[in-house]
Amino acid sequence: MSEQTTAKPVIFSGIQPSGSITLGNYIGAIRNFTLLEKDYDCLFCVVDLHALTIRRVPADLRRQTLELAALYIACGLDPKKNIIFCQSHVPEHAELAWILNCFTYMGELSRMTQFKDKAARHQENVNAGLFTYPTLMAADILLYQTDLVPVGADQKQHLELSRDIAERFNSLYSGSFVVPEPYIPKTTAKVLSLSDPTRKMSKSEAEESYIALLDSPEDMRRKIRRAVTDSDAEIRYDPENKPGVTNLLNILSALTGQGVDALCADLEGQGYGVLKERTADAVIEHIRPIRAEFDRLIQDKTYLNETLAENAARAQAIARRTLRKVYKKVGLYQL
Ligand code: TRP
Repeated sequence: MSEQTTAKPVIFSGIQPSGSITLGNYIGAIRNFTLLEKDYDCLFCVVDLHALTIRRVPADLRRQTLELAALYIACGLDPKKNIIFCQSHVPEHAELAWILNCFTYMGELSRMTQFKDKAARHQENVNAGLFTYPTLMAADILLYQTDLVPVGADQKQHLELSRDIAERFNSLYSGSFVVPEPYIPKTTAKVLSLSDPTRKMSKSEAEESYIALLDSPEDMRRKIRRAVTDSDAEIRYDPENKPGVTNLLNILSALTGQGVDALCADLEGQGYGVLKERTADAVIEHIRPIRAEFDRLIQDKTYLNETLAENAARAQAIARRTLRKVYKKVGLYQL
């Protein structure tokens, strides 16, 4: 990535280090990111500060942060061509978040549906960080003069708020931030929950509803075998009436490259058991080399630490420039 003169559009993506990445994250996002490094300057950030908005066991958070960074690399994202780093290693994120907090209204933050959801689910800990979570996310994005942010439906509202904050700030202090746009990948195979295929596959739902990339092959197969389908027995692509079967077909198609029509023709007359075994085989085989690379990397802590330090330094060089400009514009006395 060329930090000096950035000609390519910038993409920023953040993932929380809470549990492992799911098959949905992989198929819907990470796998496609490997194709972006040629045309974009990409930053992949493990957003560990965001993770603190919910009570975490410190040792778990630490381990999952390193695991997520290793998993990004194991999935094929090259830390020389992209910037793969931890949010807390670049203090400018927290610094810009404070400034942006002073340009964000209580009313705006109160309207965020994720805040309302999480506040309802964690009533014992409705902390101010949970409330201002979106301004930290805006800081992540705006620090790097990001052009594009890959976001799922659940983060659209936060990105919209980031844009509003950027525009507001720019109208007061012109030329501060690039106003980011959502990045919608061309092929979006949306992976749904195995136990409730009307919902997105998510690691914040029950364990049997999602496949984590770090699940054992046995667990992967067991979860797919138990996936909810329907009571007739026809393997047909029908998102409306057969969401469970359609979800399995989508997963199989995404991992084998075979179109769903070809798969349906191939599986005609077979029972759901066969579809499930085929899907499990494809998932296990596809993830196996990623898992092997992850296992190798996670034992090489020296390499991981050096890589993260180098990448944080590259990120910081960019972040620092934006922050200095912002400090100057708002009137902070600089030495
Ligand atoms: N809020 C995002 C999520 O929960 C994670 C995130 C934090 C993020 N900062 C970001 C995503 C910046 C995109 C850009 O999924």
